[in-house]
Amino acid sequence: MSRNNCDAKNISTEKSTASTSQQIEKKTGELLSKLTIDEKLQMMDGDAPFWPGMEKMLDGKYNEHPWTSGIIPGIGNPGIRCSDGPRGIVLQGATTFPVSIARGAAWDTVLEEKIGEAIGRELRAFGGNVFLGVCVNLLRHPAWGRAQETYGEDSHHLGEMGVALTRGVQKHAMACAKHFALNSIENARFKVDVKISRRALHEVYLPHFRQVVDEGISCIMSAYNRMNGEWCGQNKILLRKILKEKWGFKGFIVTDWFFGIRDAKKAVLAGQDLEMPFHMHYHSNLKQLVDKGEVPVELIDEAVSRLLREQLRYSDSDSGEYSRKLIASEEHRALALESAEKSIVLLQNKENLLPLTGVKKIAVIGKLADIPNTGDAGSSKTRPDYVITPLAGIKTAFKGKIKAVYNDGSDPEHAAKTAAGSDAVIIVAGYTHSDEGEFLDPETMKKMASFYPEPAPEEEYIARRLEQMKPEDSTGAFLPGGDRDSLTLSSEDETLIKTVSAANKKTIVAVMGGSAIIMESWREKVNSILMIWYPGMEGGKALANILLGKVNPGGKLPLVIPEKAEHLPFFDKNAEKIEYDLWHGYRKLEKENHKPAFPFGFGLSYTDFQYKNLLLCETVLSPSDTLQLQLELSNTGKFSGEEIVQVYISAINSCVERAVKELKAFTRVALVPGENKTVQFEIPLAKLAYYNESKEEFVVEAVKYEVFAGSHSMDPNALKACFSVQE
Ligand code: GLC
Repeated sequence: MSRNNCDAKNISTEKSTASTSQQIEKKTGELLSKLTIDEKLQMMDGDAPFWPGMEKMLDGKYNEHPWTSGIIPGIGNPGIRCSDGPRGIVLQGATTFPVSIARGAAWDTVLEEKIGEAIGRELRAFGGNVFLGVCVNLLRHPAWGRAQETYGEDSHHLGEMGVALTRGVQKHAMACAKHFALNSIENARFKVDVKISRRALHEVYLPHFRQVVDEGISCIMSAYNRMNGEWCGQNKILLRKILKEKWGFKGFIVTDWFFGIRDAKKAVLAGQDLEMPFHMHYHSNLKQLVDKGEVPVELIDEAVSRLLREQLRYSDSDSGEYSRKLIASEEHRALALESAEKSIVLLQNKENLLPLTGVKKIAVIGKLADIPNTGDAGSSKTRPDYVITPLAGIKTAFKGKIKAVYNDGSDPEHAAKTAAGSDAVIIVAGYTHSDEGEFLDPETMKKMASFYPEPAPEEEYIARRLEQMKPEDSTGAFLPGGDRDSLTLSSEDETLIKTVSAANKKTIVAVMGGSAIIMESWREKVNSILMIWYPGMEGGKALANILLGKVNPGGKLPLVIPEKAEHLPFFDKNAEKIEYDLWHGYRKLEKENHKPAFPFGFGLSYTDFQYKNLLLCETVLSPSDTLQLQLELSNTGKFSGEEIVQVYISAINSCVERAVKELKAFTRVALVPGENKTVQFEIPLAKLAYYNESKEEFVVEAVKYEVFAGSHSMDPNALKACFSVQE
């Protein structure tokens, strides 16, 4: 297409978008003018009365239907009807995809957008219109119980994946990114105060949120924790100053669910638009605050306009084209399989044990081989109609080719005997929702009791039930789980691996879990290691396809796996206060010269890739320019495969302390054996800026930069080149 044609297309798209947004603006104004103050306030919180809502939570009936808000009869607004994710819609029968951290390991933004579309369609088929599942909290420490809900530890990677999901979902429904911000300790989420400098906040913890805002996301969910002394849900700096004013966010902000704010006046003044899901602080206080003039009506109008505008953006697709047949359709389940296949990371493969060849009998060992293990049982819990376990996937795929014998591994010696009599062994080990996940305990719920509205006489039994709950009682969905106590596998799993691999060295360990697992005590004793995360409803089939070589593993770690927990930042799951600085993950290990067990971005393949001819289109640029570069990638091995090419950049002689290098671009490329492709990247130099606290803005330094293009963050064969930025 010629350049002129291209420009013409852009102009006409802009026009149609502009007229649509003018129409939405007009309609928003019209609807707003029809609403009474009571109706406006009704739009600013959840529809459900508090005590019946609590009872559902206690009964484990959490998330069994979309949560609703603000459907005003006679006005014609669609209201808010939201449902959780991120591994799919959480309602009965929806497609269960691999968890986000697994999808992060696929580094495939095209696939992530398709998953977003599938989720958006299913949500609409269920009658929902807001997907609460774009979790882009930065993974600061792998002990975080909800690590599985986010994509990884690197801000650029996280932003790209979050944008892709948002773009897909928003073809059909509103998407909501969460939890804004600094939410990365689960057990302490209702109390911890995160102290952070403006530089660390803007450079490390916020840029990925900014990316989804720039993508036009409809909704941002605030976090439970505090930042620099104030709860995030009522934090004026975060919500009003940064999100709404500095970034120009046009959508609406919603609280996190269970008392995500503590003070209605502070929250509304800070820019909090919607308190979900029950009648809580806003319901009890906003009317009085407005009547007394303590909260200006303009702020109420602002919140309601934001809510209406986003609802209207999606109301014209309320057309009945979303039939129930879309839910877990063949197409969506095929995407879940593709996603699981692409997310599996081959960490080790001594003697090329994988893919399996010449094997007649394989021992499948471990309890996790035979149970559906799709991840957390908190708000992200999905309810698929089936889950293909590793054992089921292997049995089906191996039928007639390789005999698979199963041993649950509860007696390691017995398992070793099964292993000794087999040609190869696969152990499935790792975590479940009991070890890591969302956490809400009765103690926390009781601590919030001062906020609870007075129960009506017929509701008193619910309040009594809550009072009588013991610390260990499950609150329906949210116990156990929480942050991990250890970064290694359980001692039972480690003993099993050591005992079995002593009997048969041809051992493959498939590790399930939501983030990094330290493997030092056993990794040298086994031939192959596959990180399979929580791989979704088709996970067992994906694993079998990789074992047999029907699919070549191409996933890469979206996090670093250290040799020792001491190489990671300080983490305390019960912290009242904690300080977050610039350093975590691969950036911290590299700065402190700690060799990782497996580097960020690392993953093996059944084939070999060769990188050549890195070329920078220009080597002297100005701060507002975009760096263009290319390299040649060839598949020099015998298998078709996909390589994730990564570009890292270092600033040389920066005036501030910087990471040794940081990821700035990546792409997933498919190549058949012998194929050669030119891979191109464009990196706006704004991506290299540091946050200057005295100027309160990002600055692209006029210094020299080094480009490092390779297959992972520590690739010894990476290609290198330099360029400089001049004012
Ligand atoms: C929870 C979670 C949040 C979820 C929401 C609704 O407490 O923190 O991620 O979207 O409530 O279920």
